[in-house]
Parts: sequence; structure tokens; C-alpha cells
Amino acid sequence: MKQLNNDEIRDAVRNHYGKTAEGCCGGPVPKDAEACCVADAEAEVVDENACGCGATPSSDISSAQGGCCSGPALSPDKTSKALGYSSDELASLPEGANLGLGCGNPQAIASIKQGETVLDLGSGAGMDCFLAAKTTGARGLVIGVDMTPEMIAKAKLNAEKTGVKNVEFRLGEIENLPVADNNVDVIISNCVINLSPEKWKVYSEAFRVLKPGGRIAVSDIVLTAALPEELQNDLSLYTGCMAGASSLPDIESYLSEAGFGDIRISPKDESREFIREWVPGSKTADYVVSATIEAIKPRA
Ligand SMILES: C[S@@+](CC[C@H](N)C(=O)[O-])C[C@H]1O[C@@H](n2cnc3c(N)ncnc32)[C@H](O)[C@@H]1O
Repeated sequence: MKQLNNDEIRDAVRNHYGKTAEGCCGGPVPKDAEACCVADAEAEVVDENACGCGATPSSDISSAQGGCCSGPALSPDKTSKALGYSSDELASLPEGANLGLGCGNPQAIASIKQGETVLDLGSGAGMDCFLAAKTTGARGLVIGVDMTPEMIAKAKLNAEKTGVKNVEFRLGEIENLPVADNNVDVIISNCVINLSPEKWKVYSEAFRVLKPGGRIAVSDIVLTAALPEELQNDLSLYTGCMAGASSLPDIESYLSEAGFGDIRISPKDESREFIREWVPGSKTADYVVSATIEAIKPRA
């Protein structure tokens, strides 16, 4: 990929997830799938065949299968069950809230309590927000932030369908959170921070908005070995949640420089299996893995 600046990277990510929100992947192939593919082909920054997480590396385009242009992707529910979401949790969601875009289950590590304020970074169509809202209950609040207008529109529509009152969706960047200082008990996020070109800023903003004693409980893709240059430079692997991944030492230093303590990063080796399905036939899963990232903002 040609050298892109941070705004160009964010535009490519926004374009990719805008199309994903409009139904270019997950579940049955939508009626307008062909239009999605034409949009892909005509996009200024070409974002090859895939939608959501997963990609078709430029070198493999001719033999690519899957993605919105060539057939149904893995069902979102099947993907989420494999990540540890229960059938009951999935059945409780409004239709269309789960796009199968996660790479872990932040709910499982967040220990959300009744009455807490929860912030979801990169909330997509709202899946983790709706689940968190059930746990916090009416006295709590869940805020979902996403920079893609189509995702925010979809999430708001999903909220209307359920009539849920304690969830808000805000359009914004996780590097410049539209959230007040010292306001949040717990930050969750599922497969998003790898997509940011300014990860240190994401962690510093997370620190700013958390109350003292507040925590982050994130699932994300991390780097376990240096990506070969051709994979690093593949934009479709960046928007597909892989090429932007940071190494464990880098994430640890972003967190500690932001001020966090009790940092725990736990790579999940077994996740290589589903990452392999994101890019069939590619070696990418040899270099990245899903991990949980936890840390605490110390009390003053
Ligand atoms: C892989 S999807 C995950 C969505 C959701 N967390 C889920 O599990 O269904 C990534 C989401 O993060 C959003 N996103 C990516 N980079 C972002 C940024 N810098 N600021 C805000 N949102 C971002 C995208 O618009 C997209 O909705």
C-alpha cells in the first residue's frame, strides 16, 4: 500500500465498515451485494473483496473465496458462539446487532455491575452495548462510540427496536472520545483498537474518561511476531483487523505511559484457528492472535 497518513487510514477503515454496516457481509448475501462490490472496485482506496474482520491479501485476489462479493460469510451467531457468547445472550439481541465482527468476548472479563457506566470503543451495530445494558440495568448507562456513520445509524435503529433506554450511541473517534473526564466505570472494546493508527492516543483517552479505580476490559488482535513487509503494507489486511495489530510490549507501554496499572495482556493461542478462516490460505495467523487486555486507572 502506498504510504498513507492517519486520516487516509481512518477513511479506509470507515469506508470498509460503512459497507459492512450496509450488509456487505455476515449472514445471507444481501440483495445489493453486487452494488457493494462495485463500490469496492470504484473506491479511491481500494479495499479488496472482504468485509468486517478478515481480508483477501492483494497477492491472493484471483483465488479468493468468501467475503461480500463471492458468497455468504460464516454466520455471525456461529462466530460469536465460538468466541464464548451464550445462545441466550445472542437470542436476546435485536436482529442485526451482531454482525460477527468480534474477535473475543469482553463481557466475559469486564465484571460489569448493576448501575455502572460502561463505554464501548468501536461499538459497531451495538452488540456488546446491548448485552452490557442488561447487566448494568436501568440505573446504569452504556455509551457506544463509533466513527462510522452507517454503524451508528444501525446501532440506533437496533436500540429503537428493543426500546432500551440506558444505551446511547455517539459518533466519534476513539482517539478523541466524545465523553467527559472521569465519567466511566469500565471500558470494553471488541476488535477495534488494532484499527487505530494512533493507539497511544486511544489508551490516553481511555485513561482520561475513566473514573479513578475504573478499568479497561478489551478483546483485540495483537502481534506475536513481526509481520513480513508485504503483509504489513496490505491495506485489506489493515481494515481486516490484522496488519494494524501492535505487539504486546508496545501495548504495555501505551498503557503504562497513559498512567494505567495492573496491566494484564493474555494472548489466546487457540484463536489462530478462526483467524486462519478470516484469510484462508494465508500465513497471517502465524503472526497475530486474539488477546484480552486489562488494566486499571489507579485511584489518586
Ligand atoms: C471489527 S468492527 C467491531 C465492531 C463491534 N465492536 C463488534 O464487535 O461487533 C470495528 C468497528 O470499529 C469502528 N472503528 C474503527 N476505528 C475506529 C476509530 N478510530 N474510532 C471509532 N471507531 C472506530 C468501525 O467503524 C467498526 O464499527
